[in-house]
Amino acid sequence: EKAISLTKSIREEAITSLFSETLPRSLAIADLGCSCGPNTLSVVSEIVIVVEKLCQQLNCSSPEYKIFLNDLSGNDFNSVFKSLDSFKVKLLDEIIKSEMGPCYFFGVPGSFYGRIFPNRSLDFVHSSYSLHWLSKVPEGLDNKGNIYISNTSPSNVSKAYYKQFQRDLSIFLKCRAEELVEGGRMVLTILGRRNDDPCDTEYCCDDWELLATALNDLVLQVEK
Ligand SMILES: C[S@@+](CC[C@H](N)C(=O)[O-])C[C@H]1O[C@@H](n2cnc3c(N)ncnc32)[C@H](O)[C@@H]1O
Repeated sequence: EKAISLTKSIREEAITSLFSETLPRSLAIADLGCSCGPNTLSVVSEIVIVVEKLCQQLNCSSPEYKIFLNDLSGNDFNSVFKSLDSFKVKLLDEIIKSEMGPCYFFGVPGSFYGRIFPNRSLDFVHSSYSLHWLSKVPEGLDNKGNIYISNTSPSNVSKAYYKQFQRDLSIFLKCRAEELVEGGRMVLTILGRRNDDPCDTEYCCDDWELLATALNDLVLQVEK
């Protein structure tokens, strides 16, 4: 929630320049790694509010909104879908308080490390706190019983994770380059850190080590 509010002005700037440049009749917006919590709809309402205000200022008609919510297929899309009716009513009655363009929602299951939309079909891509999840654990590593980069990991482990991140991000960008229209916008929020230490607990969650210990204990019990 903090990341969503810290990045609000960046989204506003991006959607304002996108809309003002072309005054499109429809806007296709995708939230990648939407999960099932309230953040995805709060981003959607923020974007719709910005566009509706622009329409009033520029005296033009509202576009229709096509909202694509993407996550892995195991995501609980239904809990987001169940809240859509009340979301639309609240947005119209309490926030916008006048007419707004129609809003159509679509669930898009699948990994964003592959193509998930047709060519040039999206105007605006948003993704928050999702892109630092890699597509897979790097292959062929002996990580000494750790499940992530840890103080006891051999030095090639953090390099392998870094390479995997580079490969994944490059695939992500290539796919989105095909899916976005020319002049489309993308706002990505990724967890990062300010130093070279991948184990610095100020930036990285230290629960992984606890989880690794618990998992190793379980494995040992099976082996006994
Ligand atoms: C920490 S949640 C962020 C949820 C939401 N965007 C927010 O800001 O609250 C990360 C989400 O990314 C999704 N995710 C991770 N890897 C993904 C992938 N390869 N493709 C699509 N979604 C993915 C996870 O399933 C999870 O729902």
